[in-house]
Amino acid sequence: MTRLFVSRDSTALSLGAEQVVKAIQQHAGQQALDVQIVRNGSRGLFWLEPLIEVETARGRIAYGPVQAGDVEELLKNGLLEGKSHPLCLGDIEQLPYFKNQNRLTFARVGLTDPVDLDDYLAHDGYRGLKNAVNMAQADIVKQVTDSGLRGRGGAAFPTGIKWNTVLNAPAEQKYIVCNADEGDSGTFSDRMIMEGDPFVLIEGMTIAGLAVGATQGYIYLRIEYPHAKITLNQAIAAAYQNGYLGENIQGSGKTFHLEVRSGAGAYICGEETSLLESLEGKRGLVRFKPPLPAIVGLFGKPTIVNNVISLASIPVILDKGGEYYRDYGMGRSRGTLPLQLAGNIKHPGLFEVAFGMTLRELLYDYGGGSASGRPIRAVQVGGPLGAYLHEGQFDTPLDYEAFAAISAVLGHGGIVVHDDNVNMADMARYAMEFCVEESCGKCTPCRIGSTRGVEVIDRIVNDVQKDKNTELLRDLCDTMVCGSLCAMGGMTPYPVLSALNHFPEDFGQPKSARA
Ligand SMILES: Cc1cc2nc3c(=O)[nH]c(=O)nc-3n(C[C@H](O)[C@H](O)[C@H](O)COP(=O)(O)O)c2cc1C
Ligand code: SF4
Repeated sequence: MTRLFVSRDSTALSLGAEQVVKAIQQHAGQQALDVQIVRNGSRGLFWLEPLIEVETARGRIAYGPVQAGDVEELLKNGLLEGKSHPLCLGDIEQLPYFKNQNRLTFARVGLTDPVDLDDYLAHDGYRGLKNAVNMAQADIVKQVTDSGLRGRGGAAFPTGIKWNTVLNAPAEQKYIVCNADEGDSGTFSDRMIMEGDPFVLIEGMTIAGLAVGATQGYIYLRIEYPHAKITLNQAIAAAYQNGYLGENIQGSGKTFHLEVRSGAGAYICGEETSLLESLEGKRGLVRFKPPLPAIVGLFGKPTIVNNVISLASIPVILDKGGEYYRDYGMGRSRGTLPLQLAGNIKHPGLFEVAFGMTLRELLYDYGGGSASGRPIRAVQVGGPLGAYLHEGQFDTPLDYEAFAAISAVLGHGGIVVHDDNVNMADMARYAMEFCVEESCGKCTPCRIGSTRGVEVIDRIVNDVQKDKNTELLRDLCDTMVCGSLCAMGGMTPYPVLSALNHFPEDFGQPKSARA
């Protein structure tokens, strides 16, 4: 029997993967071919999806992008033997885009069947948990601290410190909450893990539970991810059936329960305290801090809130040790970051690499430049609250501190590319508008300031008292940065001011005004 792999990832599905599977089934049936189709996760090479991979003695030979109409001809020309064809890409793992990554967190994504526990176990799955069940709680936390892992949700807070706080908070009940709201523009790494390797997230959350003494976990999943909900629930059911969740996990006497909860489509519910309110069944309104969720979190109990990627990075740390993970990266940015390339880029997709590569290398060597073939003019890194970078900043290494030094953020690793057709005053206006739409409304600088921000930008571009209104916009941004309760209002000025400072000509001001 020959094994073929066609992804069940949402991106592949949106590009026609389901139709490709149906075509394979139809033609294989007609020709009585002995094939098995495995629905894997995506390798993250989106411009080549839908991909068909065939398992051969020479490795997994890929064909792509394949449409349903190509299947008959591919089968006729030796697809099952991995024979050459204009759509043949060779061994998928030898393609430079794939080969030059450091796939620690995404090691299995695209390789295995996401909901097959045996496949997970056969590819190093649950090795981290196996170690953790025999360790003292403080030793598990120490491995995480030693790894240097910082939260991948955006704020880059050291994960070990957060876990230590929850470990030392005395309480009968503690919780592990996974932030799977993934609201940032141009981001999809959380989704890809949940659709492509859900067990790694489940394992990471279980280890977190053992580490701090939490017996209940929740995955707060954005409603826009129906496929992830299916894979997660299938994997959770398999984990329960096989003693990896529930009571007495793998005979250890330890308990951890896990459930998926759906959000309702609010960006602010990705902010951890709003998320907790929402999880408690209330409106997603930001809470004052302190107290920190680590001390007073879900239902008032000590709670770890971590991003999907942070938690999915735990199994490899507990399997290979904190030092192993720490060896990747630069400065205080340790390990790897799954970068997501989107927007006007020739090779969109996911690229997991150690911190330190420059943005230029990523954009041109791997991203292939813009999809339109025009010069790349502006790049927004870190979601809708991230700064816009101009060409002169593309040599900045992908590192939390290097980005902070240029008033930018890495955030969740989303990178949205624009060519020279972009109007940056429109982008600045859009940032303020986004804040109007998504503000939770609790504090004035964000709730009212964003509406005033849209109006002021309109006056600037319409040449109404340009200098006075530019000064007013800067003043308003100052107030939002200093007076907002959370980073929604506090960071909206990043895209606005970077657009104004780096691209003054789009606001009708001389280029020499560039800050
Ligand atoms: C407006 C806003 C939206 C956010 N959205 C997300 C999100 O979608 N996913 C996420 O993991 N973190 C998001 N965060 C960050 C969380 O508040 C929090 O820092 C994170 O869940 C902590 O996990 P980590 O330490 O593993 O990153 C958001 C923060 C703000 C201010
Ligand atoms: S900054 Fe905006 S989103 Fe954050 S608490 Fe204030 S009103 Fe709510």
